[in-house]
Amino acid sequence: MASISDQFDSVNKAFSRQSTFYDEYDKGNPTLTWMRNQVMKHAIKFLRPNNKILELNSGTGIDAKFFASRGYSVHCTDLSDGMIEQMKTKFSSEGYSKKITVQQCSFTELNQIGDKKFDFIFSNFGGLNCIPDLRQVTKFFPQLLNKGGRVCLVILPPLCPWEIIQLFRGKFSLAFRRFHNEGVLANVEGVKFKTYYFSAKDVMKALGEEYRVLKVESLAFFTPIPQMDKIPKIFPKITKVLNRIDEKISSFYPFNRVGDHIIVTSEYIGK
Ligand SMILES: C[S@@+](CC[C@H](N)C(=O)[O-])C[C@H]1O[C@@H](n2cnc3c(N)ncnc32)[C@H](O)[C@@H]1O
Repeated sequence: MASISDQFDSVNKAFSRQSTFYDEYDKGNPTLTWMRNQVMKHAIKFLRPNNKILELNSGTGIDAKFFASRGYSVHCTDLSDGMIEQMKTKFSSEGYSKKITVQQCSFTELNQIGDKKFDFIFSNFGGLNCIPDLRQVTKFFPQLLNKGGRVCLVILPPLCPWEIIQLFRGKFSLAFRRFHNEGVLANVEGVKFKTYYFSAKDVMKALGEEYRVLKVESLAFFTPIPQMDKIPKIFPKITKVLNRIDEKISSFYPFNRVGDHIIVTSEYIGK
């Protein structure tokens, strides 16, 4: 088994390689664009005016720019050298430096942030799936959150209908890849590292009793997952219909527990 530092070295290498074309791929993938819009609509509902946001695994800072353009201040963190460089260059050249700060820091070492306090902790698109136990991260939240602070985590759950359907194409390992408790090897830009899948229940457990769940929502139950990026290009109308169906059902049990990603938003009531 790889040590945690080997795992983080691989994650750093993989996402640093990806960082140079991340925004271009993101923009060119209709499902990713739709999913990100859904996440932003969700997050905005739970943000209050003048909230201070701590973003974990910010990547190239796409969401931070969105929040800053709505007037929020954001402290962005990420592990990857390449992602940090992209953010720093982008935020200074595009005039975001007053609203957004950047710190290279693993979400397993959030004590490095010091005694700053936030109202909203946000993590998008599965960064947290790179560790085996969410408590390695959530243990820092109480010291980082102001009273009534909220936590919005977007993660890959174990059940994804579009991957299970791959059974019918004989792709057994893809169909069941999310069910391995010991994690699954992901290959990002030729670098392999372990990924782990978490249910909404796992997220709630990792947060503990001092939080109350505000909303659980899914992304891409019917919509083909972002990796199936040819489908929205060949069948744009059908994809739009599937997007609309997902938007209608995504907050209702059991659909809100299953999909490519799930969004779990909770409020800290422990202070
Ligand atoms: C799929 S990208 C998502 C980026 C961004 N949240 C977005 O929505 O575009 C996953 C990100 O998680 C970051 N990451 C993975 N493990 C991390 C860790 N231990 N600490 C901080 N960031 C990490 C990666 O460097 C990468 O930028």
